[in-house]
Amino acid sequence: TLSNSTNIFWQECPVGKVERQKLLNQKGCVVWITGLSGSGKSTLACSLSRELHSRGKLSYVLDGDNLRHGLNKDLSFKPEDRTENIRRVGEVSKLFADAGLICIASLISPYRKDRDACRAMLPDANFIEVFMNMPLTLCEARDTKGLYKLARAGKIKGFTGIDDPYEPPLNCEIEIQQKDGFCPTPGAMAVQVVSYLEEKGYLE
Ligand code: PPS
Repeated sequence: TLSNSTNIFWQECPVGKVERQKLLNQKGCVVWITGLSGSGKSTLACSLSRELHSRGKLSYVLDGDNLRHGLNKDLSFKPEDRTENIRRVGEVSKLFADAGLICIASLISPYRKDRDACRAMLPDANFIEVFMNMPLTLCEARDTKGLYKLARAGKIKGFTGIDDPYEPPLNCEIEIQQKDGFCPTPGAMAVQVVSYLEEKGYLE
């Protein structure tokens, strides 16, 4: 969408992304983790951040639940507010990536068009979509926050996976799923993502 402001100008600064990346020895990018509530997004975000930190790489986690306490406190879970939530976090992620950081965004981000819009904001394929492909039955059985129970009882309306849709990615870069009926450990999930980042040259 176009800006509502008029008479605005883009300012260039002599220290740019290239210089910052050199300083940090890494390439700025966005690791976008999407999936149902209780699918392990935050767990992966935290273990990935820890793994990168231990390798001397600078990352920052943007967590949907946490951002709704501040930046996005004015937004509800209505479809248009979720769309605005994802747009804002996409823009913030873009700034973090431009700062040279590995930005880890962890949000349900249920609508495909919203995630695709974030991908389109990021130049040079620097948007790495990670799909937490966990069955609803598993997320609901875990129900760490007791929200599925409330949703089933009709006490929360428009809950993702219950009475609001989750649209899985069609072309994600990384998929996390169960193997032989077991969920990968937080460490194993982090290694899967780090391996991808290494292979694509983001950590040099
Ligand atoms: S979204 O859809 O991307 O805008 O959601 P997000 O900002 O990631 O926030 C998800 C967390 O909000 C809690 N919550 C709900 N989730 C889904 N649907 C409804 N109606 C809802 N109401 C509250 C829930 O704790 C989500 O946390 P996670 O970490 O995903 O379990």
